[in-house]
Amino acid sequence: MKKIIVEVCAGTHCTMMGSMDIMDAIASLDDEQLGLDSQCSIEVKAIPCKGTCEHGKRSPYVFIDGELIENADSSSVMSKIIELVQQKTK
Ligand code: FES
Repeated sequence: MKKIIVEVCAGTHCTMMGSMDIMDAIASLDDEQLGLDSQCSIEVKAIPCKGTCEHGKRSPYVFIDGELIENADSSSVMSKIIELVQQKTK
């Protein structure tokens, strides 16, 4: 099974900038809305601060399959997840 790993920073600065709202948004969608089937799944993890926020201007940070998304919001994260689901289920 193919898996998409979504890591959402749960550090102080990213949390203040809305990272938990992103986690809630992902959790609120079902597999059908994301285009998931039995061949592809998503693992969502809260991760500690990796120090990326040193200057504090581009939080919250989300990593999707290792790719950094700066100034992440629910919309940009969902778009990237859907794009990867489509690539992985071709
Ligand atoms: S708090 Fe998110 S990268 Fe530091």
